Amino acid sequence: MRVVVGVCGGIAAYKVVGVIRTLVLEGHDVHVIPTESALQFVGATTFEAISRNPVSTDLFHGVAEVKHVALGQSADVVLIAPATANTIAKLAAGLSDNLLTNSVLASRAPVVVAPAMHTEMWENPATQHNIGLLRERGMRLVGPESGQLTGSDVGVGRLAEHDAIVAAVTTALAPRDLEGRTVVISAGGTREPIDPVRFIGNRSSGAQGVALAEAARDRGADVVLVGANLEVPAPAGVRTVPVSTVAELREAVLERSGTADILVMAAAVSDYRPTTTAEKKMKKDAAGGGTSIELTQNPDILAELGAQESRPVLVGFAAETESDESALVELGAGKRERKGADLIAVNRVDEGRGFGTPDNEVLIVGDGGTVAARACGSKRTVADAILDAALAVRR
Ligand SMILES: Cc1cc2nc3c(=O)[nH]c(=O)nc-3n(C[C@H](O)[C@H](O)[C@H](O)COP(=O)(O)O)c2cc1C
Repeated sequence: MRVVVGVCGGIAAYKVVGVIRTLVLEGHDVHVIPTESALQFVGATTFEAISRNPVSTDLFHGVAEVKHVALGQSADVVLIAPATANTIAKLAAGLSDNLLTNSVLASRAPVVVAPAMHTEMWENPATQHNIGLLRERGMRLVGPESGQLTGSDVGVGRLAEHDAIVAAVTTALAPRDLEGRTVVISAGGTREPIDPVRFIGNRSSGAQGVALAEAARDRGADVVLVGANLEVPAPAGVRTVPVSTVAELREAVLERSGTADILVMAAAVSDYRPTTTAEKKMKKDAAGGGTSIELTQNPDILAELGAQESRPVLVGFAAETESDESALVELGAGKRERKGADLIAVNRVDEGRGFGTPDNEVLIVGDGGTVAARACGSKRTVADAILDAALAVRR
């Protein structure tokens, strides 16, 4: 996607370099338009190197390419960060006196505005009036936040955090194809207690399930995230139900499956639990140098959901250690059949792959045990591919 980033003349301009870098690493084609004042804070060389695209502030440069409108017209989203009081006022008035304001006026893309300024400037009635006008026109505000400002003062006016700005841009770019739908996602790894301090668990951090929740939210869904011992923060704007054991996860998912349109079981669920849980911490000496724990099989939640007569589109996960693709597809097809799921996302896990890593690779096995889709890249990319495949089943 093409992201145009307008950078204005505020101290927080240096922070936006990190945002630009993240957007580039996520695969976006990023074009930076700094104002003249912005270049007092961060040089064009930095913006060019980080965005990997030429940078220009000059309205009358590259006239043959009609740059003053071309950048805005071709944008899928425009981000203005940090947005100064001055540029906010210009946007509110509809001025077009530099390359950035021309580009905004020439664009039909969603505009995300991340203001940053001292509290007095932010609270000034002129700025508040201008912000109100931008909101009314559908521009999306992210921040400002309260906190330490430049110098020693503290108050509202601090640039929104890096992740919040990136999320606002990603949300603005997402298709709204899940609007009006409810998506339930289980994520994380269950823990079955052995005693008050020990448990049987697994290596799942919950990152893939959280990426699914974020993607579904950005695409307009009402999202419920049943999170089992998540090691990553639950995203804003989704309803999170914290659980720990398989029994808790089962209850939370079954309670919500009736109202879901799509249900993705991304949590790593323990097949077994200790038959009894010791009330007190088990002592090493009491075991006499060795011990064994009797295990009882847990209910198969995916199969239970798959057997329901009226159920949402059901997506299961299979974490496998086979290296051969045809063996992975076969395992996925077998699991899909046994569980009665619509899709099985098979991912290969081993040391350094799948669990606890930023990237993932899945084969999505669908109708007839064939590969409905395959996805490789960030967990967000994989999440979008899974949601695309689930929507295709729904249609
Ligand atoms: C050191 C310094 C820091 C500034 N920080 C901000 C700021 O955070 N927010 C703001 O609205 N203006 C800030 N300004 C004022 C703007 O640079 C000034 O209003 C300028 O005209 C903005 O131009 P632009 O909107 O075209 O980038 C700062 C000025 C200086 C000298």
